Amino acid sequence: MRKVVRLSILGAGTVGGGVLTLLRENADLLEAQTGKRFEVRHVLVRDLSKPRAVAIPPKLLTTDPQRALCDPKVDVVLELMGGLEPARSLIRDALQAGKHVITANKLVMAVSGDELIRLAQQRGVRLLYEASVAGSLPILNALQGSLAGNRISRVVGIVNSTTNFVLREMERAVDAGEPAETAYDAALRKAQELGYAEADPSSDVEGYDAQYKTAILARLAFLQYVPLESIYREGITHLSGRDLLWAKRLNMGLKLLSISERLPDGRLCARVHPTLIPRDCPLYVVRGAFSGVWLQGNGFQEMSFHGFGAGARGTASAVVGDLIEIARHPRSLRIEDPSLRPGETAPMETLTMRYFVRLVTPDENALRALREPLQLLGAEFQPSETLDNGVEQVVLMPPLNEGEFRARLTALREQTGVAMQVIRLL
Ligand code: NAP
Ligand code: HSE
Repeated sequence: MRKVVRLSILGAGTVGGGVLTLLRENADLLEAQTGKRFEVRHVLVRDLSKPRAVAIPPKLLTTDPQRALCDPKVDVVLELMGGLEPARSLIRDALQAGKHVITANKLVMAVSGDELIRLAQQRGVRLLYEASVAGSLPILNALQGSLAGNRISRVVGIVNSTTNFVLREMERAVDAGEPAETAYDAALRKAQELGYAEADPSSDVEGYDAQYKTAILARLAFLQYVPLESIYREGITHLSGRDLLWAKRLNMGLKLLSISERLPDGRLCARVHPTLIPRDCPLYVVRGAFSGVWLQGNGFQEMSFHGFGAGARGTASAVVGDLIEIARHPRSLRIEDPSLRPGETAPMETLTMRYFVRLVTPDENALRALREPLQLLGAEFQPSETLDNGVEQVVLMPPLNEGEFRARLTALREQTGVAMQVIRLL
């Protein structure tokens, strides 16, 4: 690679702005690390007149993707715009043109990662995407590098910072005796202002963003193709202040978790859902805009990563790390794909888990009808409480088969009309 590495940056929003800042602030360090200088030649945006947090010389800005991609002098294209299209086509075009690509786009990598990685290999260029999962955490590099000699059995992560931030703010409101629902709205707005949230924040709160990241993580941890649709997904929109209050009473934390694990029968199960975790879980302390990943493997036993999972600088740190890797090793083709096995995935219904169930009924009579069938399943009842909207009863269930328990609850809900909040325990 030449002494000067020339870049096209597609997108100058939160992440693109962070990357431009870091490239400027750490220019001398990057040169010391690689023996090369980095020169930005094009910055693709939608709107040339938009005010930007980072000063960009107007001559670099363009709305024409071809200008950014077809420049023969450009060595590396950084796709930091987001969304499936046109991002995916632009990555494809850049690889076809023989350029290395770095992307922070988990949607593209979850949906079309296989095809794009193959294309990069055919063209003899690098496609790196560390920033696509858990922002600044070097988890993808660790899985492909230092930890690659382990059989990974489980990956548990808080991989969406927006929801972790929102849950933390709801928790604070509950502690202060304020409405958690108001805190939810305010926290989501703040996460958008701070650049943590996706362009469409429903991707965060409905669990899609975590689902994409789970597909990428599981694929690298287990070297198995994990179709997106095989990953169970549940977001945080149905959680309330009462759930967070109960988490505290039970001495647990409530987090949106990404869990992928190899089952004893060899199948892989991957899922995203709110989960109650005990205080001694390494992810308990992961709060606010932080992400965390906790791994188990047959060599290292267990390990956890904890750091900024979103935001301009944290994410830029991962992108610039990928850039340094390309500058140092433009030809190195790491595992990244060829031995991917199709493998079998197991649906959630096959798992056995413990559950928290919060029942709210208009009166004690309806509760009585539910107590016996739940008792038969081994329920442990917490003291019931009268609230403004009825009587609340929390029960903790022993390990039960997910499919059978959910079917039983659906039948009970239909018979009694009682509202039930079900949260799984780790
Ligand atoms: P963002 O703030 O919305 O910025 C997107 C940038 O891309 C903007 O500069 C926008 O131009 C440009 N852009 C979007 N669509 C375009 C199009 N069709 N043509 C030309 N330019 C286009 O998004 P972001 O938060 O930086 O996220 C970028 C990517 O990084 C996404 O894939 C996201 O999931 C991922 N990511 C984000 C974070 C984070 O903390 N934000 C962390 C990790 C990964 P204008 O400015 O003119 O509108
Ligand atoms: N919206 C994402 C999050 C950005 O909140 O985690 C980082 O990928």
